[in-house]
Amino acid sequence: MTDAVVSGGAAVEALSEREAARELARLAFEIGFHDRLYHQKDTPEISDEAYDALVRRNREIEARFPHLQRSDSPSLRVGAAPAEGFDKVPHSVPMLSLGNAFSAEDVHEFFGRIRRFLGLDETEPVDVVAEPKIDGVSASARYENGEFTIGATRGDGVTGENITQNLRTVIDFPLTLRDDFPKIVEVRGEVYMGKPDFAALNQARALKGEAVFANPRNAAAGSLRQLDSRITAGRRLQFFAYAWGELSEPVADTQKGFLDRLTGWGFQVNPLAQLFTDAESVLAYYEKIANDRAHLPYDIDGVVYKVNRLDWQQRLGMVSRAPRWAIAHKFAAEQARTVLREITIQVGRTGALTPVANLEPVTVGGVVVSRASLHNRDEIARLGVREGDTVIIQRAGDVIPQIVEVVMDARPDGTKEFVFPDKCPDCGSLAAREDGEVVTRCTGGLICPAQAVERLRHFVSRNAFDIEGLGAKHIETLWQEGVIKTPGDIFRLEKMERNGDIALSKREGWGARSTENLFQAIRDRRNIAFDRMIFGLGIRQVGQTTAKLLARHYGDLPNWRAAMDRAQPREGDDYDELTAIDGIGPVVASDILDFFAEAHNVDLLTDLGNVLNIEALEAPAAESPVSGKTVVFTGSLLTMTRAEAKARAESLGAKVAGSVSKKTDYVIIGADAGSKARKAQDLGVAILTEDQWRDLVGA
Ligand code: IVH
Repeated sequence: MTDAVVSGGAAVEALSEREAARELARLAFEIGFHDRLYHQKDTPEISDEAYDALVRRNREIEARFPHLQRSDSPSLRVGAAPAEGFDKVPHSVPMLSLGNAFSAEDVHEFFGRIRRFLGLDETEPVDVVAEPKIDGVSASARYENGEFTIGATRGDGVTGENITQNLRTVIDFPLTLRDDFPKIVEVRGEVYMGKPDFAALNQARALKGEAVFANPRNAAAGSLRQLDSRITAGRRLQFFAYAWGELSEPVADTQKGFLDRLTGWGFQVNPLAQLFTDAESVLAYYEKIANDRAHLPYDIDGVVYKVNRLDWQQRLGMVSRAPRWAIAHKFAAEQARTVLREITIQVGRTGALTPVANLEPVTVGGVVVSRASLHNRDEIARLGVREGDTVIIQRAGDVIPQIVEVVMDARPDGTKEFVFPDKCPDCGSLAAREDGEVVTRCTGGLICPAQAVERLRHFVSRNAFDIEGLGAKHIETLWQEGVIKTPGDIFRLEKMERNGDIALSKREGWGARSTENLFQAIRDRRNIAFDRMIFGLGIRQVGQTTAKLLARHYGDLPNWRAAMDRAQPREGDDYDELTAIDGIGPVVASDILDFFAEAHNVDLLTDLGNVLNIEALEAPAAESPVSGKTVVFTGSLLTMTRAEAKARAESLGAKVAGSVSKKTDYVIIGADAGSKARKAQDLGVAILTEDQWRDLVGA
């Protein structure tokens, strides 16, 4: 069979409907036939190009006649983004990430924080387990009655992807547990690719003319996210276990004890894991691991410290998705020298003009870098950097590369100082710098395409509305065409399509199927958690944590809007209430109120209020007697530290405020309570002693 014959046939434009239907049937059969040869027998009969031509022809015909798409159409199987192929798996116990330490000082601070939180006196040691931080991909494996049942990626920590089949192929991963094990146990750890396997894989790929992986982590991630687990099986992945998720019964009293249980069940636990009793010895361990790093058979990017006592871990709890009882001590950034070709300006969602250094590509820490952020105009001045300069750049973990310094001796003749623009490069509006701010901003607001598009991108991004299938390119095109001008328009797309105002399904690269998928994804998001909606607005400085605080505090959109309206004078009860939310200071409050001061933002909220069904944030413990109540702690507490009291109250669904107002429900007074207790008395707010509080929350 020659290539011309398989892909041939009449031009797509010339096909009648009948011919098209017949052709689609032939293509479905033929592509399926070659798929089987390729995947199952490994004996392809046609070239990749010829195969691609068949697939393309199939797609083109379907684009012309969307209603003729067959249920066995190859476009439903090939070329779909891999992510669409994995089922979602909710994590019954969230998969956490880790806070970072970059210096010895940060590590001392970590120990200090733990002592303060737990109220330990100087003499009491804080034991920690230290172990290398593996540079791989985290995964969770569920066992029921000792049998491996479900494997999942971390995903966003709350929901991951089902990778059961792929995890089964990991070489040292146990499919059944040994020893005595609980009925249900979820084991978490890192899937990684060893350095020798990584080198061999890349060598083989290079020989075949395939793209090589930048580093072992990317190789592990790419291998684990294969829809065809036979490919994963050929990749020699490995697994180190280090944490747990759901457990049907306690399995240990200490972190070290837990690691021993893991070993007993048949898992690989990092052999370098070790118990220490103070910051000094932990730091010595860090130095040693950093020195041995190059000789380890796998990549690591730091060392992790975990409080050994599990009852302490429990009390310490977590802050914004990271445990208070653990920290990742990262290795110093790797550096490289290269040439800065050009400085360009990027406009972000809030209008900030960010200078970007476009570099001669260079490898730093295993990754090819061609761009680095220059942050703002002060940074350019501080570095004294010019186009054409030789610079030292560095990368720390996943952080965007930074320019550390300019190699002045290498400056070529004729370079000029960089002139920061006073106009927005995207819309030409004035770019100005507000008093006391380092950032230069475009004043064009929503007429600025860069800002509008970036805001929309943020709106649909994973932690906001999480609308799959609406990529950056689509948004940009649809914005330019005036189809999506504001987030609310996204929820009107389907109607526009059905009315014939637009024809997404006929566009290049869309197709009936992906358009339907997109509409489904959008429909799914009409029900949205209040905090996600707030985060999606893209208000300056309002990240996920602050969005949650606001959602918890104000409960629903009408309530929040009314309160922000009343707080506009930036004084009075409602303003005080906003700034009394723990975690929101005057600076963030000002950004929030600025947002509400703009008419187009208020219109946006009205619009969203109409098209969405906004779900109030579920209180963490609905049955708690203090959920939804506002409490204030004052004076020195005896049985718990202030931080612990606050964390505990919040985990029970209470809002902890810093000052007493009419809206306070309880003031809990410790020893030497002063003005806040008096104010509570004046306002008639319920006052509790520490014991009464403990009784109330059942501590
Ligand atoms: S402990 C609650 N230990 O690092 C415990 N994490 O930056 C959470 N990681 O998401 C993790 N090696 O994927 C832990 N020895 C180790 C680790 C480790 C690598 C990863 C893990 C986590 C990420 C956080």
